[in-house]
Amino acid sequence: KNVAIIMGGYSSEYQISLKSGNVVYNFLDKSSYKAYRIHIFKEKWVMVDENENEFPVNRHDFSVNYAGVKVTFDVVFNAIHGTPGEDGLMQAYFELLGIPQTSCDYYQAALTFNKRDLLSVLKPYGIKTATSFYLDKGDEINEDEIIKTLGLPLFVKPNKSGSSFGISKVKSKEELLPAIENAYKEDSEIIIESFLDGTEVSVGVINYKGATTVLPITEIVSENDFFDYEAKYLGKSQEITPARLSDDVRVKVEAVAKKAYEVLKMKGFSRSEFIIVNGEPYMLEMNTIPGLTTESILPQQAKEAGISLTELFSNAIELALK
Ligand code: DAL
Ligand code: MG
Repeated sequence: KNVAIIMGGYSSEYQISLKSGNVVYNFLDKSSYKAYRIHIFKEKWVMVDENENEFPVNRHDFSVNYAGVKVTFDVVFNAIHGTPGEDGLMQAYFELLGIPQTSCDYYQAALTFNKRDLLSVLKPYGIKTATSFYLDKGDEINEDEIIKTLGLPLFVKPNKSGSSFGISKVKSKEELLPAIENAYKEDSEIIIESFLDGTEVSVGVINYKGATTVLPITEIVSENDFFDYEAKYLGKSQEITPARLSDDVRVKVEAVAKKAYEVLKMKGFSRSEFIIVNGEPYMLEMNTIPGLTTESILPQQAKEAGISLTELFSNAIELALK
């Protein structure tokens, strides 16, 4: 089977995606699959061979002319964080072309990538969230009302982005407007949330061999003010798997994460973030193309569950092909 590993993307997360994609390429079971790396950038979609030569992708049918042969793909391994890989655009494109891919479907991708919409869909299922405000670029900003409702500190986030780009923890009124400006650099919609003072955990849920499977939970202990870009990628955090939770709390968090996956009719990978306050999980977000580098959280969780990277990737491909 020919597997196209798509990586890169149009967002600030493209470098992380290239790392994830290359890990998929390196660990893919070469005896079962023939892997091709495809870079998806605004300026170009190209297949990159072992010598780093580039071959343009024909966007009508997602094929590549390589060494005089037209190469088509049986399945796409989606490793693009952010747009257009995690927000439904690529999913819709491949669905129209009839090419199966490893992530969730376009609707689930678009929904989960929008923090506001995800949390409002999950709320009626009893999934708790922070108290929040939403702003669209151009909306009037009532600083006093925001602070009165949410208290300080509070979080300002772009509504649609990843890897903590554009997120600030605001501790005083003076910091609020600059934080909002900063978040607007990533997205024209922002979400402002109350600070949840508790234990941060990351919960991987995947379909493993046909069953919804919650991987061992990871506890995040950040040296920085919160789990920001530096904490995520430059070692300024401790990630403890399995998390140090009592059995009661662990079972509760697993049940909430599994419920979210199932009511959304998810497929493929997911990694949801929660803050546990007094034994109750509050959901922050769900990532459907979680980082897949060897140091990333979901691969660590899979390893703890006894699933190697190679197995994790084969499982994703086999489910996509079903
Ligand atoms: N958005 C990053 C890649 C993650 O969720 O792991
Ligand atoms: Mg995220």
